[in-house]
Amino acid sequence: MKIAVLGTGYVGLVTAAGLSEFGHSVVGADKVAAKIEAIRRGRIPIYEPGLDELLESNLRKGTLSFSTDLAATVQAADVIFVCVGTPQGDDGSADMSQIEEVSRLIAENLNGYKVVVEKSTVPVKTSVRIKRTISLYNKTGAEFDVASNPEFLREGAAVPDFLEPDRIIIGVETDRARDLMFRIYDRFKDRILVTNIDTAELIKHASNSFLSMKISYINLMANLCERTEADVELVAKGMGLDPRIGPRFLKAGIGFGGSCFPKDIRALIRIGDDLGVDMSLLKETERVNQGRARIFIDKLKSALWILKDKKVGVLGLAFKPETDDVRAAPSIRIIQALLDEGACVRLHDPKAGDNMREFFPEDGVRTVYCSSPYQAAEGANALLCCTEWKEYAELDLARIRDLMVNPILVDGRNMFDPAAVSAQGLEYFSIGRR
Ligand SMILES: NC(=O)c1ccc[n+]([C@@H]2O[C@H](COP(=O)([O-])OP(=O)(O)OC[C@H]3O[C@@H](n4cnc5c(N)ncnc54)[C@H](O)[C@@H]3O)[C@@H](O)[C@H]2O)c1
Repeated sequence: MKIAVLGTGYVGLVTAAGLSEFGHSVVGADKVAAKIEAIRRGRIPIYEPGLDELLESNLRKGTLSFSTDLAATVQAADVIFVCVGTPQGDDGSADMSQIEEVSRLIAENLNGYKVVVEKSTVPVKTSVRIKRTISLYNKTGAEFDVASNPEFLREGAAVPDFLEPDRIIIGVETDRARDLMFRIYDRFKDRILVTNIDTAELIKHASNSFLSMKISYINLMANLCERTEADVELVAKGMGLDPRIGPRFLKAGIGFGGSCFPKDIRALIRIGDDLGVDMSLLKETERVNQGRARIFIDKLKSALWILKDKKVGVLGLAFKPETDDVRAAPSIRIIQALLDEGACVRLHDPKAGDNMREFFPEDGVRTVYCSSPYQAAEGANALLCCTEWKEYAELDLARIRDLMVNPILVDGRNMFDPAAVSAQGLEYFSIGRR
């Protein structure tokens, strides 16, 4: 199969490399030429474990290449995977301008039958818009189909998620498109669920919003635990032992973030509102999430009282471990609140520091980036954990204590055993437990 992948961000790069690994001939293209040139030089613009190796081996085999010539890439392909961004618009709905732009590009280069695959996360009924746009700008009258194949990869585990997916959803409306999609994923025949396009589009938003709901639910329980003698870690464990509930996404903390959950839940709320469906359940999920940063900062204030001119170390900037992605990371809200209160922040992340500099540029006084967690702790009045990177779990807490002015650790991810931290002479605050 000759496949084009349009948009080489977090999803597009993994999709291009993964489809090429499945034996297809893939060209990845992006409108940001610098990105493509960097990839060609072997400099991958994102941090994703295992991606360098996967890209390199497929580039070497010659089944994968990258191009800045979007038109030629479309013309040469049988199937086009659309992996451009669908960021949150001002009104909460998904901003579909990148999808519209790509649809026009495809229309103008339609030189024969092609399947246009929505890989990006898009609102239900987007295929209708794509079809209309392609028809409007289609010069040749060549036939095409639109299919939906939502992506479920998790950043930080994107390569194994793509190479060994637990399900593949394919939304189609013709047998021709269905057959082509089956050829692409023929090694996973047993894991394919075929639906109509509206259903496939909705499955993605429904999945992400459900997982968000689980997180807000356990955070609500954490609030209850903090006012009782209950321990949220054990509440989650007890709940998770029920196979109807399952243990995953029951981790209390500072809330969900990233480029998907916050924007996807908002987009689904907006879709429901537009269709006249009561979306209160998801609105509350989002409201609980929004409140997490304030609850976390209040813990810090209960320890330090006034934050003005206090030095606060922040460990973890990425929205989750094993990624450099800081889009809608809870740490952003927390750092902003600290700066608003007049604190000085000492920031550390193993991978995401450079991306965070775009949100909070270093000024050497109020905002300082540190090369190690120990440097972040140096002279600090408190240390916050915002991302559960493995290396933080292995910190030498006695050394941390000695470096700090006030040995106070506020853990937004329940990474540490409270007794072990106290034994090292630190005052410890965590989420939903004592
Ligand atoms: N990041 C994730 O974990 C994840 C997981 C599943 C689904 N998704 C969805 O996948 C989509 C892409 O997400 P992402 O995180 O890869 O975004 P991204 O911003 O990292 O990548 C999007 C890429 O598209 C390129 N682009 C924009 N307009 C273009 C155009 N007209 N022609 C060619 N390229 C163009 C951009 O330059 C960028 O490189 C979104 O809809 C997102 O919701 C993301």
